[in-house]
Formats: sequence, C-alpha cells, structure tokens
Amino acid sequence: MVFPEIDHILLTREQIAARVREMGERIARDINLELGNNPEGEVVIIPILTGALVLTADLIRELPLRLSLRVVAVSSYPGTSITSKGAKIAGDLPRDLGGKHVLIIDDILDSGQTIGLVKELILQQRPASLRACVLLRKPESARLRPVDVEYVGFDIPNEFVVGYGLDYDGFYRNYPQIATLKPEAIGRSSGVPGGAA
Ligand code: IMP
Ligand code: MG
Repeated sequence: MVFPEIDHILLTREQIAARVREMGERIARDINLELGNNPEGEVVIIPILTGALVLTADLIRELPLRLSLRVVAVSSYPGTSITSKGAKIAGDLPRDLGGKHVLIIDDILDSGQTIGLVKELILQQRPASLRACVLLRKPESARLRPVDVEYVGFDIPNEFVVGYGLDYDGFYRNYPQIATLKPEAIGRSSGVPGGAA
C-alpha cells in the first residue's frame, strides 16, 4: 500500500470532482455577471501555494473565461505542526491587480489568517472585485480572523486532513481524496524542511 498512514476517507475523488464542477459553474456565472458591466475587465486567479495547487488545476478547467494565473506563497504550517502559527507572505505578492476581478483559491479555511491576510493585501490594490474560494472549511475551528469566503466546497469536522493538495509535513498532497491520518503518523518528522501552506 502506498499510503499506509491514511486513516479514514472523508471525501472521495468522485465527491470532490462533482463539487469542483459545481463551484466552477457558480464562479463562472458570478464573474461573467461582473464582466457584463465591462467586458474588457481582466480576471486574475490567485492560488495560495502550495495547498491550492490541485484544486486550482481542476477548478480553472471548469472556468470558460479569459483569465490569468498569479501565485502567492503563504507560510503558516511549518513542518510537522498541525495548528496554525500565523500567516506570512513568502516572496512577492502579485502587483497591478487594480481594476481587475480577482479570485483567491486556497485548500482550506481554518483559522482564517491565511485568506484574511491575502485578502487584506490585495484589497489595498483596489481590485474591481475580490472573492475567495476554498475546497474545505472547518466551521468548528477557532476563527482567529473573521473572513468572507464566497465559495466553499465542503464543511468538514475539526480534524487534521490531508490529500488533494493538503499536506502533513510536505507529504500526501498527491493523495487524491481527503482523509485523516492515523494518530501514530502525526508527530513523526520526515526531515522535510518547513512546508508552505
Ligand atoms: P488558516 O490560516 O488557519 O485558515 O489555515 C489555512 C492554511 O493552513 C491552509 O492553507 C492549509 O495549508 C493549512 N491547513 C489548515 N488546516 C489543515 C489541515 O487539516 N490539513 C492540512 N493543512 C491544513
Ligand atoms: Mg499546508
């Protein structure tokens, strides 16, 4: 078995794929409404690295829009920790977002610090519109920073999950479903240097 440390599966590939298609339809409809007022408007998709990579790859192929991609890296979960240590931008934030329709994509909304920070910084550039999309949200987790997220794939229990882009200590991002890890797998360090969100 390739992933012996997976405990139980919360969301299957099929459930995720169906929901991503639905979210894509809604997002495309909403952005098209915005563009209706100004068809020349530009659409910029901003995945938060690294966790949003898999969702972004699937979601943008459900968006029949003329769009560009600009990534932002935020680090909040270094190494083997499973609780947020606060968010900070690693590297540069995309510039020139003024007047554009921006959609931020992240894997999960947990404490709210990551998306809260990225939204705050992008708003300073005065985009024409700004929305956020996540695959997962943990409604029971302590929301340290209140933040609006317009598109949520699934609400899940307050458990640490991996797969479909989400990692533990840098691993499991390629596991195609959303699953928990066996307790004995958590806390064991792999030696992979501090991961980015
Ligand atoms: P927040 O800033 O606390 O909302 O956390 C968001 C970031 O923490 C996400 O981008 C994820 O990378 C990471 N994160 C939060 N919960 C989990 C989880 O259950 N598994 C893996 N990563 C998580
Ligand atoms: Mg992460």
